[in-house]
Amino acid sequence: MIAIASDHGGYSLKEELREYLESKGISIKDVGTYSDERCDYPIYAKKAIECILNKECDKAILVCGTGFGMTIVANKYKGIRCASCWNKDVAKLLKEHNNANVIALPGRFIEAEEAKEIVNTWLNAEFIGGRHTDRLQMIEEIEKENMK
Ligand code: RB5
Repeated sequence: MIAIASDHGGYSLKEELREYLESKGISIKDVGTYSDERCDYPIYAKKAIECILNKECDKAILVCGTGFGMTIVANKYKGIRCASCWNKDVAKLLKEHNNANVIALPGRFIEAEEAKEIVNTWLNAEFIGGRHTDRLQMIEEIEKENMK
């Protein structure tokens, strides 16, 4: 199951992505927001990340205006690796090198078709391990030093 969340800046793209992924048979947990009324992105990023922490979902897709705010929130949690992606090449590397379990999208800067391509690329890419495993271990050490 994949959690999906947005604020008002990402709402319409989030709706398109949810419908698209569900049409492909992928189970989605939509934690809101549920309208384009102004709201606060930390609330919705937190809801999505909690779905990973409680093991209801193994991945999350976050959409706000830039993808940045939600990325900042997501990376406050231990074990979460997230970045905002604006094209499929960076989305592929986000999985291959960083083994990201969360992707953020800039709802105000990309079209729905591009976003679908980005999400598909990230979902289908594989972590390549090797030297990147060592780097992820270094990140875990930093988490241990700095997070409860
Ligand atoms: C909301 O106006 C906007 O700040 C938000 O969607 C996001 O871009 C924050 O990083």
